[in-house]
Amino acid sequence: MLRLNGHPDNVSRPPFGVIAVHRSEENSALRCADLFCGIGGFHVAARNLGLHVVFACDIDEPARQAYEANFGLRPWGDITSIEPADAPDFDLLFAGFPCQPFSIIGRQRGFADPRGTLFFELLKFIKEKRPVGIVLENVKQLSTINRGDVLQRILDDISQLGYSVDSRVLNALDFGLPQKRERTIIVASQKPFAFFDWPTNRVKMTPLVDILETEPPASYFVSEYIRRKRQEAHTPTVSPAIWHENKGGNVSSHEWSCALRAGASHNYLLVDGIRRLTPREQLRLQGFPDDWEIVCSDAQTRKQTGNAVPVPMVQQVIERMVNHVGQHSIARQPATPQ
Ligand SMILES: C[S@@+](CC[C@H](N)C(=O)[O-])C[C@H]1O[C@@H](n2cnc3c(N)ncnc32)[C@H](O)[C@@H]1O
Repeated sequence: MLRLNGHPDNVSRPPFGVIAVHRSEENSALRCADLFCGIGGFHVAARNLGLHVVFACDIDEPARQAYEANFGLRPWGDITSIEPADAPDFDLLFAGFPCQPFSIIGRQRGFADPRGTLFFELLKFIKEKRPVGIVLENVKQLSTINRGDVLQRILDDISQLGYSVDSRVLNALDFGLPQKRERTIIVASQKPFAFFDWPTNRVKMTPLVDILETEPPASYFVSEYIRRKRQEAHTPTVSPAIWHENKGGNVSSHEWSCALRAGASHNYLLVDGIRRLTPREQLRLQGFPDDWEIVCSDAQTRKQTGNAVPVPMVQQVIERMVNHVGQHSIARQPATPQ
């Protein structure tokens, strides 16, 4: 088996925001597809590993604009209108397929919801392109909905195409990000495995203070009324902290953020109970590098970061998948100081 340069067991991770980006040469990398790409959390991870994304698609135009501005690759649109045979060939498939039908917020209707059937669009790509490795991401609840039947059906469908499959719930907090974000990760490989080599080392959390902007614009501060309401509801024990208000109106605070959410209310997360997160902070909480260019409105970026996959979390999984399929050695670039 090829060893990777900088295997996760052997390296100390660069602090958040200084992840070195290796802009890969087209000829030196496995080719990847990024389906339901959003703003490209998978793409950033793949690029950090020296892989080359050759195809992406997303139905959302602002997300496509952000993706193109940052990767120079224009995503295709609605997956239901794409014939997989028309897309370029690729070796690795990544997809954070839409999670509404599986999430708590989506009332756990699973495949009863037509949006759930977008998984079958993804299957069409697997059948046609036969990628050697697959990494999929979805909400944590995918693992438990219908007592695990939906997840099992997904695993069975991929397995029937000749793949070894496995899944696990991973938490971005274990990968150095100050965000509690638990996600179901599914891996599949044509090269058989008995057990996938899941990352188990906990990466030390980047302190919130490294994520927060020092002089956020005044427009991010909440009104005196909201500030007082929060302070009446909660006494913090730590600062800086992200204050989180749940659906029942209970307020708690932590030295990490609760999961960013695409459709959350404006004041769902507040820094020290007094201001909203800036777009740059939201991107940092998902592990996007500071050279990421923000080209969309605050509202769009909030939605996009709420949908995105945490970069360092999937990066470790992709790295292990590449190591497993053994067709490519990854040249990790050394971290550069900020
Ligand atoms: C959970 S998000 C994926 C986020 C992505 N992995 C990232 O890191 O930003 C799901 C994405 O699926 C897209 N989507 C929903 N329906 C789609 C369709 N019919 N065709 C293509 N993309 C679709 C949404 O616009 C959304 O960006």
